[in-house]
Amino acid sequence: MKPLLKWAGGKARLAPEICEAFAGPCSGTYLEPFAGAAAVALFRLQRGDIGDAVLTDVNHKLIAVHAAVRDHVDDVLEELAAMPYDDWKERYYQVRAAYNDGPFKGPAHAARFIWLNRAGFNGLYRENKRGEHNVPVGRYTRVSIPDESHFRKVSELLRGVHLSADDFRTALTRAGKGDQVYCDPPYVPLSATANFTAYCKAPFGLPEQIALAEAARDAASRGAQVVLSNHDTPLVRDRIYRLDRGFRFHSTPEVSRAISRKGDSRVAVSEVIAAIGPIAA
Ligand SMILES: C[S@@+](CC[C@H](N)C(=O)[O-])C[C@H]1O[C@@H](n2cnc3c(N)ncnc32)[C@H](O)[C@@H]1O
Repeated sequence: MKPLLKWAGGKARLAPEICEAFAGPCSGTYLEPFAGAAAVALFRLQRGDIGDAVLTDVNHKLIAVHAAVRDHVDDVLEELAAMPYDDWKERYYQVRAAYNDGPFKGPAHAARFIWLNRAGFNGLYRENKRGEHNVPVGRYTRVSIPDESHFRKVSELLRGVHLSADDFRTALTRAGKGDQVYCDPPYVPLSATANFTAYCKAPFGLPEQIALAEAARDAASRGAQVVLSNHDTPLVRDRIYRLDRGFRFHSTPEVSRAISRKGDSRVAVSEVIAAIGPIAA
């Protein structure tokens, strides 16, 4: 099941390979602490690989969209139908201003978020230092919103899924024996000169990458199985997911990714899928 949102680093295409890294279906709770558009969770929910699921992300405005689709799909569809489609380019900044005024939950918020995601430049989500959405208008000929049946299927899959806005450190403390965790953090830069990714106000730098590896190891020591994605760089393999700390590596898929700001140059970059645990006590 494809996600409803476009999301930087979204894993819709890699979901089958990521699932291979888990030992099999999840008998405990499945946790995704960097849920984003929830591509892997939706894939696994549709396959029936997981029962109990907890999806979290530090971005509370994003989590509120998943919650509105889960709980009020009719209202979200109604609000989306009322968004501008003919004169969308002229009204883009008006919708963005309305979005930034809040409130940041409920069906109207979800509709604005989804519309901006489809009408904004390159499907980006970016906030300024004041936490305001500041993505410029996209270059599309029309705004394409997923169809109603897609919304209803995602809503159905999310029924019973626990959603909350948390930092990964809080989310990972919930993982224990029999649980499976998929961590898809903002990636380390491909080169020393590139910046660490900022999806939201708080940066995700090397200290956060190392804290995540440690939190994953702690969860593995409590009996959880943790799978993590990142760029395949020496920093990731030698310093973050270290073999001598119990990490192992699965496939290294090559994905095509837009890397320039203009979004017009795509290159093949290698990703690594690492795993740890469960570590026997
Ligand atoms: C690579 S994206 C995840 C994409 C997701 N797997 C998908 O398929 O759409 C990384 C996510 O991490 C979230 N994030 C960034 N810092 C975080 C933190 N400290 N704790 C939890 N989530 C964080 C971002 O909001 C973003 O949604």
